[in-house]
Amino acid sequence: MLFDFKEIPGKECYKLLVSTVTPRPIAWVVSQDAKGLLNAAAFSFFNVFSGDPPVVGIGIASHKPGRPKDTRANIRETGQFVVNLVSEQNAEQMNITAIEFDPSVNELEQAGLTPLPSIRVKPPRIAESPVAMECELMQIVDLGESGLVLGRVLAMHVRDDLVLDAVNHYIDTPKLKLIGRMHGRGWYARTSDLFEMPRIPVSEWKMKTVAAAGPAEKTTR
Ligand SMILES: Cc1cc2nc3c(=O)[nH]c(=O)nc-3n(C[C@H](O)[C@H](O)[C@H](O)COP(=O)(O)O)c2cc1C
Repeated sequence: MLFDFKEIPGKECYKLLVSTVTPRPIAWVVSQDAKGLLNAAAFSFFNVFSGDPPVVGIGIASHKPGRPKDTRANIRETGQFVVNLVSEQNAEQMNITAIEFDPSVNELEQAGLTPLPSIRVKPPRIAESPVAMECELMQIVDLGESGLVLGRVLAMHVRDDLVLDAVNHYIDTPKLKLIGRMHGRGWYARTSDLFEMPRIPVSEWKMKTVAAAGPAEKTTR
């Protein structure tokens, strides 16, 4: 079935996108307003877009027209934030921080989470999260009532028991037990159903295709 986005209202386009582009990783973002009031919220319009420079992107909407979500307002105001990743163990607390509280509410307190000081930015990271990235704002791409926040990662914290080799930067990824957001309002995926498929070098592919084609026919005059 074809869905022509020119003919479909924005809300319906949203439904089609979030129920197909899955699973999406979750950025559990801690930010602060200019007075230092803490804020935490979850965002699954999230990914990493470049390794060098290290860049993350987060799509943050508005609570209502003209009132951007507190996280976007804070990041615009202070230029700093921390992206924490969400493991199975963090799921319920992450969900509490996503409640649409007033800006005056500190979601870390509501969810019983422990803030730990960051090294390069003012907002703290979440002690309960296995990975935290300290970020500074690069730019906010205006998307109408949404904004795509692009941030440069200045530092990453990984829980000690998840680091396989600190010198070569090998992480025990399955042990992170991260969750992803699926469809609808409340479906999530675990990252424990894995399979391995190595990349194919061009040389190997050429050898395979030549072998499959068999010996070249001799041309006769
Ligand atoms: C798993 C999950 C993912 C979410 N992803 C997004 C998202 O990508 N963009 C967005 O604007 N809101 C998203 N939300 C909703 C926000 O977390 C929610 O509106 C929150 O109250 C915003 O908080 P803030 O105003 O303190 O920034 C998500 C909620 C959950 C539970």
